[in-house]
Amino acid sequence: MSSGDTPAGGDRTAGLGSVAFARLARGNARRWARLDPLLPVPRELLDGPADAPVEPAVGDRPDTDPGRLLAARSGDSAAAGRWRHVRLDPTSLPANYDWLESHRLRAAVDGTDQAAALTALLDRWVPEVAALADPVAQPDTGLTVTWPARDVQAVAALTRRGFAPVAVVAARLRAPRRADGVGSGVPTATIGPADPDDGLELRPARLDDLDAVVALQLEELFYDDLLGGLHLRSSVERAVRAAAAAALSRNDGSRILALRDGSAVGLVAVDLPDQADVGGLAAADRVGYVDCLSVTAGARGSGVGRRLARAADDRLAEDGAAVVLLTHSTVNPLSAPFWAREGFRPLWVIWSRPLLLPA
Ligand SMILES: CC(C)(COP(=O)(O)OP(=O)(O)OC[C@H]1O[C@@H](n2cnc3c(N)ncnc32)[C@H](O)[C@@H]1OP(=O)(O)O)[C@@H](O)C(=O)NCCC(=O)NCCS
Repeated sequence: MSSGDTPAGGDRTAGLGSVAFARLARGNARRWARLDPLLPVPRELLDGPADAPVEPAVGDRPDTDPGRLLAARSGDSAAAGRWRHVRLDPTSLPANYDWLESHRLRAAVDGTDQAAALTALLDRWVPEVAALADPVAQPDTGLTVTWPARDVQAVAALTRRGFAPVAVVAARLRAPRRADGVGSGVPTATIGPADPDDGLELRPARLDDLDAVVALQLEELFYDDLLGGLHLRSSVERAVRAAAAAALSRNDGSRILALRDGSAVGLVAVDLPDQADVGGLAAADRVGYVDCLSVTAGARGSGVGRRLARAADDRLAEDGAAVVLLTHSTVNPLSAPFWAREGFRPLWVIWSRPLLLPA
């Protein structure tokens, strides 16, 4: 049924019936709370209108779009979720991370055979997307399911239907910091003059550092692109430059450079809690996001990344972040162990596939 055919108000249980729907919502919420206290209460997933349209939200901030409610059942098990359709401008920075036509699903599941319930939901969703997809855009149309990392009972459904785990959203709870700056559990990084031991200086990046910032950000993107999962466009450098220039013009210390003997060897970029667009991914009011950490190839393994990661943590702490999130490629052999050592754990896994699977 197209969104236009749905009666006003729609069926707020997407056909499951109110008892089954309430059981699913309760069971899923209980399981998430047990699995990881940083998972948000999945209220917005299941509340709200049933018949929101799936016209694409243009741009990378779709979270004001409630999405369309879908549900499916298998035996005593049920799954329900919200489907959002996002259309990206190919020259925008987010288009380098995603399909131009991106169909995104967040779902909840409960029952004794959760994989069967999620399979049933996917088997309902994918044909609906295919029926809606613009044939011209199809080669750049993809499906993304964001699934709690520790919620493994249903995961086989994703692999069976051709999804691959392309990225991890990792999280760390920040311990409260004492007024003297001690007590986060992580040593404070020094921003200031070069360390006499290793000649490394950390300082906020300025607008006249734009070339160095762009070069380091591109180096990180090109490294990540080797691992698949990105969608680099011919305009990537222009998009990175425009976004970096805008961020540096804010002059808010959200970009920090590491310099050795005056040359930029590393960069960390953060979204402060008031800027971070993390779409209800963590159970906290103030969430900071590490957008980019890049150490130039010749300087890796000498402590630059760790100093920058801790400087980012300090900057986010200044703005009251209770939780820090970041996204890294599932198979990045450098970043995955690095962030684990910095105390981050997988909170979500981003599963993705093209709409049309290769024959
Ligand atoms: C990931 C990255 C930022 C790490 O920076 P780095 O300067 O090389 O890391 P550091 O030298 O500060 O390492 C800090 C600690 O992590 C450890 N570590 C770093 N990389 C590691 C790896 N791949 N495996 C295991 N441990 C690792 C170091 O041994 C060190 O611990 P130790 O002092 O106890 O030995 C860097 O490798 C990089 O820029 N990679 C390419 C781009 C990228 O992947 N960016 C991250 C995207 S999310």
